[in-house]
Amino acid sequence: MASPANRAPPHLHFLVLLFLLLSPSITAWKKDEFRNCNQTPFCKRARSRKPNTLPPLSVSDVSLSDGGLAARLISSDISRPLLLHLSVYHGGILRLKIDEDSSVDPPSRSRFQVPDVLLPDLNDRRLWLSRLSSSSPGFSSFYLADGFEAVLRHDPFELSVRRTGSGSDPTQDRILSLNSHGLFDFEQLRSKNDGEEWEERFRSHTDSRPYGPQSITLDVSFHDADFVYGIPEHASTSLALRPTRGPGVDDSEPYRLFNLDVFEYLHESPFGLYGSIPFMISHGERSTAGFFWLNSAEMQIDVLAPGWDDPESPDDRRIDTLWMSEAGVVDAFFLVGPGPKDVIQQYTSLTGTPSMPPEFAIAYHQCRWNYRDEEDVAAVDAGFDEHDIPYDVLWLDIEHTDGKRYFTWDPVLFPNPEEMQKKLAEKGRKMVTIVDPHIKRDDSFFLHKEATEKGYYVKDGSGRDYDGWCWSGSSSYPDILNPEIREWWSEKFSLQNYKGSTPTLYIWNDMNEPSVFNGPEVTMPRDTVHYGGIEHREVHNAYGYYFHMATANGLVKRGGGNVRPFVLSRAFFAGSQRYGAVWTGDNTADWDHLRVSVPMVLTLGLTGITFSGADVGGFFGNPEPELLVRWYQVGAYYPFFRGHAHHDTRRREPWLLGERNTALMREAIHTRYSLLPYYYTLFRETSVTGVPVMRPLWVEFPNDKETYNNADAFMIGSNLLIQGIYEEGQKSVSVYLPGKQSWYNLKTGVGYAGGMTHKFDVSEDCIPSFQRAGTIVPRRERFRRSSSQMVNDPYTLVIALNSSLAAEGELYVDDGKSYDFEQGAYIHRRFIFSNGKLTSSSIRPANVGEKKFSSDCVIERIIFLGLPHGAKRALIETENREADIEPGPLILRAGSSPTALVVRKPNLRIADDWTLKIL
Ligand code: GLC
Repeated sequence: MASPANRAPPHLHFLVLLFLLLSPSITAWKKDEFRNCNQTPFCKRARSRKPNTLPPLSVSDVSLSDGGLAARLISSDISRPLLLHLSVYHGGILRLKIDEDSSVDPPSRSRFQVPDVLLPDLNDRRLWLSRLSSSSPGFSSFYLADGFEAVLRHDPFELSVRRTGSGSDPTQDRILSLNSHGLFDFEQLRSKNDGEEWEERFRSHTDSRPYGPQSITLDVSFHDADFVYGIPEHASTSLALRPTRGPGVDDSEPYRLFNLDVFEYLHESPFGLYGSIPFMISHGERSTAGFFWLNSAEMQIDVLAPGWDDPESPDDRRIDTLWMSEAGVVDAFFLVGPGPKDVIQQYTSLTGTPSMPPEFAIAYHQCRWNYRDEEDVAAVDAGFDEHDIPYDVLWLDIEHTDGKRYFTWDPVLFPNPEEMQKKLAEKGRKMVTIVDPHIKRDDSFFLHKEATEKGYYVKDGSGRDYDGWCWSGSSSYPDILNPEIREWWSEKFSLQNYKGSTPTLYIWNDMNEPSVFNGPEVTMPRDTVHYGGIEHREVHNAYGYYFHMATANGLVKRGGGNVRPFVLSRAFFAGSQRYGAVWTGDNTADWDHLRVSVPMVLTLGLTGITFSGADVGGFFGNPEPELLVRWYQVGAYYPFFRGHAHHDTRRREPWLLGERNTALMREAIHTRYSLLPYYYTLFRETSVTGVPVMRPLWVEFPNDKETYNNADAFMIGSNLLIQGIYEEGQKSVSVYLPGKQSWYNLKTGVGYAGGMTHKFDVSEDCIPSFQRAGTIVPRRERFRRSSSQMVNDPYTLVIALNSSLAAEGELYVDDGKSYDFEQGAYIHRRFIFSNGKLTSSSIRPANVGEKKFSSDCVIERIIFLGLPHGAKRALIETENREADIEPGPLILRAGSSPTALVVRKPNLRIADDWTLKIL
């Protein structure tokens, strides 16, 4: 969202502007616009309950059913028994479902279960439960994965996951448990009592709540945990989730998961932002575990400080959490780990791994609200060339449309959109246009006419098309939960339907929380109605997800099923990683927002969404040149790297702030372009395993306690460690380099011991970056206008040797755009250096398809870090020819001094097997 002036009806612009000028503080975050827990009855009720004070729930009628365990949950204040079902999936996943038994005193409707998030083949990965162990009376337990079992305590009800082999006591050695504090509460659907009021009011809005209270609360304990992480999206400079209640915690709000368009969000707040993923990971020296609750209603989550339940005997080896949701069912997953990568892999085996992006999308994007017209676009495009700065994508914001009617072009400002895109395409560049979900209610607008006639809009409580205010004024919103409407929406992206579009046009979905300027909390009222009578409250957090899905599918269809889409979305939910990238919304051009971008992007990566980034430079406000440069230096490592700015800010394309700053920003962008082969290889890895491109240190060093709450430094893959600079005028920085191996500074080539903190002088030309000893990183060092112009360029390998003078790395290459890689059309190499020999061999699973990808690219330079001096020549054994070894620079730039030993022109084909021996 933008400034209030931009979301007011036009006639109010002047008044709002005047008001703004008179009261500068109005531009800050408007806390009152959003509900806190106390103003949210289900949250207030749940949070005020004391542990073990509800009538105890017990388990009865345990049986084996449908390959899992079925049972009933009963208690003295439950009118209709709750049905519980437990099932196990391959790889260490336990699923718990709890819903009400609608055959007893049938409720008027069934509760919402989120469709289309879990992978369709999940059922095939079930482990059929054929036997329960009842060795301990009052408990049912069963195999979950090697080394783990699930334990159901009957009275009172408690579910836990524990390590096996450590004794017969079923309450010992647990890693996760549910209802250990007796806080499980399930508000059942019922009829209204006499005189009872179900309506809820917030500011000028009334939620009719026709179905009454239906919230669910549960407590989840993470045993052996030092920290918990995840549940985006919040802004917090701490990577680990800080406790929200308990001894030593000032009164704070729970973490809120409710997709909202928050104007000028704070860099430190538990309030919910644009997206929601109800997935938490715990980590400690002994294990990593995960808990995921598939539920798209508003959720509030407390992280409880040790001693919250009993200040006399705090247990700091366990982290208790309280999960409260407004509606839906319990559909929860317990992930056993035991390592960080295992948990992420387990989570993405449920919700999908990130899709493989087209290669251009991982290069640099230039955006601004707005590039005014075709001349402006041409001038910005030329500016990059004049200043020798590569970029891949130019973005057009809302003003490019004809009166905020998406899929149209302003006829005066953008009269020749196809030609404009073709000109960019000649340099291998793409364009992105914005398509938001609010459709202008204008009878002459084809999209509105069609959606109205077909009855495709979300309805208000009285059955009329819901009408809300957004950029386009009075607007309605497609009911994208309905598969038929998603199909219709996706057709809109065909080249025939989207006039003025070409195959090099890609899409940006914004405001899809959805943002409604005059709605409660700037979103859609909870009692609006979707497909199948589902209330908005039940599906709110997934609205943007479905919109992203329909748009991405539209681009896939446009390309005949064999062109990878690129769609950026602001709202997200569990599973959004399958449809494209997200960004962290409207941040501010200040140092705190630069700092917070790192834990925000890391958290998204932990919860499946690796393809994310923050607006480089900050959306609101004007960054000082130093801040902008530092932001480019950090942003060059975000998986999604885009400069963007609000229309009220001064222009800040990378060449506008003086020659020195241009050179520094060019250098940062060059760093990203040189690392594109490494990034692309990492995107391949994440598309297979889910393990994110940008990772917290502890994911790579799970036993190193120093790393557990480090959010200032981060890993790119397993090989690079980057330390951001987040303070103005910073002269030195302490960097903790984890692990037992050493690290090479990528500017100087100097090696540093791992497992300790080093102090470095900070220079203006780059942020500290290190390559881990024992790794090989592929790069490309020739800079062109865009990434696609680099496809035939040779590669450089940077080999950082460990103490045994060995190293390993990978390179993945495909055509960068189609899905042919799914049939085997790719090159994936493993490079191993040991005993003085570098070998390249193919990584190719046996069941991969027959399609081939060919490339004549060669490796033109091999840089060794840590190779003993004296090596002069290398023998390419497979071809029986030699190459020179000479001192050379680690980074190829004018004036760089020799810092490494370099094998010059070995010219080894990336497609071939070969061996090179140091003589
Ligand atoms: C929202 C987006 C921002 C965009 C603006 C206009 O505020 O978050 O990125 O520029 O809308 O479309």
